Amino acid sequence: MFFGSIEYSGPGRDNLRPMKKLFIKTYGCQMNAYDSARMADLLAPLGYAGTETAADADMVILNTCHIRERAVEKVYSELGRLRKLKDRKAKSGHRMLVAVAGCTAQAEGEEILARVPMVDMVVGPQSYHRLPEMIARLARGSGERIEADFPALEKFDALPDAVSDTGVSAFLTVQEGCDKFCTFCVVPYTRGPEHSRPPEKILAEARMLAARGAREIILLGQNVNAYRGMDASGRSWPLARLIEAIAGIEDVLRIRYTTSHPRDMDDDLIEAHGGIGKLMPFLHLPVQSGSDSVLEAMNRQHTAADYRRLIGRIRERRPDIAFSSDFIVGFPGESDADFEATLQLVRDVGYAQCFSFKYSPRPGTPAAAARKQISESVKTARLDTLQKLLLAQQDAANLAIMDKTLDVLFEKPGRNADQIVGRTPYLNPVHVQAPMSLIGKVRPVRIEALTANSVKGSLA
Ligand code: SAH
Ligand code: SF4
Ligand code: F3S
Repeated sequence: MFFGSIEYSGPGRDNLRPMKKLFIKTYGCQMNAYDSARMADLLAPLGYAGTETAADADMVILNTCHIRERAVEKVYSELGRLRKLKDRKAKSGHRMLVAVAGCTAQAEGEEILARVPMVDMVVGPQSYHRLPEMIARLARGSGERIEADFPALEKFDALPDAVSDTGVSAFLTVQEGCDKFCTFCVVPYTRGPEHSRPPEKILAEARMLAARGAREIILLGQNVNAYRGMDASGRSWPLARLIEAIAGIEDVLRIRYTTSHPRDMDDDLIEAHGGIGKLMPFLHLPVQSGSDSVLEAMNRQHTAADYRRLIGRIRERRPDIAFSSDFIVGFPGESDADFEATLQLVRDVGYAQCFSFKYSPRPGTPAAAARKQISESVKTARLDTLQKLLLAQQDAANLAIMDKTLDVLFEKPGRNADQIVGRTPYLNPVHVQAPMSLIGKVRPVRIEALTANSVKGSLA
């Protein structure tokens, strides 16, 4: 799960002498990062090429997240800055289009236009393939400024092949939406119902990514292990079968998938972790809480014991697998004992790295209306306690690979000259003194030292 913001500078198409510049700022999860790349692909034929800053852009897209209140605040403060920029540009005779995409667009389309009228268009995560049409309508000065339907099939069919630089490690969305309705979560409302892309389309995209230099493919979905794609002959593929087929592509060296729901970890997928060598031994399997009563109130539809059993079964098939999870503290009604049960689950499982959040009430979700909301000070204290424990586990996981020799897939240049950065099978970033020619290759690396966020090693 990725929760920073990244600035996407789109496909470089210098040879086409593009007339217009596009700046996309991405918030939220990896699925938004994938969508941003696809929006850039979609606008490239209209003459838009990526740029590094909003200041020199002809069009700015904010690809937004709605998951917590803080995420939405960021969107409105960025819109405040863009409004000033747009005014300044207008005074010097330049028009800058501003589009709001992503989950906040889906959830608050009308409100965005009311609060920030300078926004030219609002487009939801399942309708961004209509951006070119919206831009054309805007040029004519007519028509609807919001597109927020859920025509899931239509979107993927309407998107062009990816032209953006995919990098060594590439995202590939295979499943979208969520039918789980955890009581705290907006995703089922912003992304719509679960929908899986057909396997043939995914395989074609994976082959194309590999041909463009991708060596690792990260299969994405809000509930990726609920994947059930229907092939042309009407057979339904579970995720394990899709992984197996992608593993058959020679140039794809590594496969990962995220994010999974514990309820959808079927036997085939557990088996795949033992049987498919290219499937990496790292699994993000969010549990949210270790207390059964909280899990029930969250509508997670599994108990803490179910989750422990599941972890045990996966470890049986792949003993060295590293786990990560998401946690929410301060869910309505969470007692000290409930929170202690979460800490105990963390101690029992032993995670490599995790994300943890204070519960944030989201408008329209059932938990937001619950009576027993937890005070901010209790949430802060609990988050602090949990994060200390998680950090200690993360340090232990990094220490455990010290002095070992592990395969590293090199992804990009490091910050220092002569340094390149890659990842171990367990996802630890490793900095190594090595030639750039190794980017895109896997080499054994001896892990030698720990720094704040990564490890250092040398070619073995
Ligand atoms: N199915 C995806 C969901 C994306 S949301 C997944 O499980 O990764 C990512 C995480 O955000 C969730 O796992 C949850 O821990 C957190 N989250 C979602 N809604 C939240 C809320 N209202 N308050 C705090 N954290 C929340
Ligand atoms: Fe949200 Fe739950 Fe669906 Fe994940 S499974 S997206 S947490 S509703
Ligand atoms: Fe955020 Fe939407 Fe992803 S709410 S976490 S961008 S699915």
